[in-house]
Amino acid sequence: MTARTLSNAQGGISNMQYLFQIYDEMQFDYDLLHIQRLRRSSNFVPGSGSLVPRAILVGEAPGANENREQRPFVGRSGIFLEGVLKDSGMLRSDVFITNVVKYQPPGNRDPSPKEINESLPFLRRELALLGTSGCRTIIAMGKIACSSLLGEDISVTNYRGKFLPMKNGWQVFVTYHPSFIIRSIRPDSPPSLVEKQFRADFRTVGEYVNTQVK
Ligand code: URA
Repeated sequence: MTARTLSNAQGGISNMQYLFQIYDEMQFDYDLLHIQRLRRSSNFVPGSGSLVPRAILVGEAPGANENREQRPFVGRSGIFLEGVLKDSGMLRSDVFITNVVKYQPPGNRDPSPKEINESLPFLRRELALLGTSGCRTIIAMGKIACSSLLGEDISVTNYRGKFLPMKNGWQVFVTYHPSFIIRSIRPDSPPSLVEKQFRADFRTVGEYVNTQVK
């Protein structure tokens, strides 16, 4: 599948075409040495969701399920995330979900700084395009998303639940990565502290974006 089969997108056709162009350029830009290496072992996973989103959720990089289905957050962490979104008054179809890096790194390792650096210009173009809808809220999930977007090392523990301003008018809301929360869940045990914090974070950002809806 190429980005042309991107599913679930809503919004103006010209924006959709422009998004396809961004994704096509990313896949076929042979100057992206580190990304082209990932391309040999995994599929391209474009962002998906509303092109007039209430918020843009940014993760790290696709996992095995996402690589197979070529859609972000469709595995266990995606199912968990959808439930948390719903509890905070947002549906998956209200938001746009994407990753910093659009390919699964081998062995599910963290994306390298070089892979992140080569991916960032494309993420910025995605954001600029989605920003034409008036959306200014990014929910950055996990250290890689937060630090990449803000251009500095961010401690998620210190900043979670807070909005940090980006230079160009965007607000980055910092929270944990859903996979981190899933690892804290024990059957037959009450929710962990980090799960409670994650759910509270989403309620905070959900209330905020719902007051922005015109
Ligand atoms: N983890 C991520 O960061 N992104 C996905 O799409 C899935 C899991």
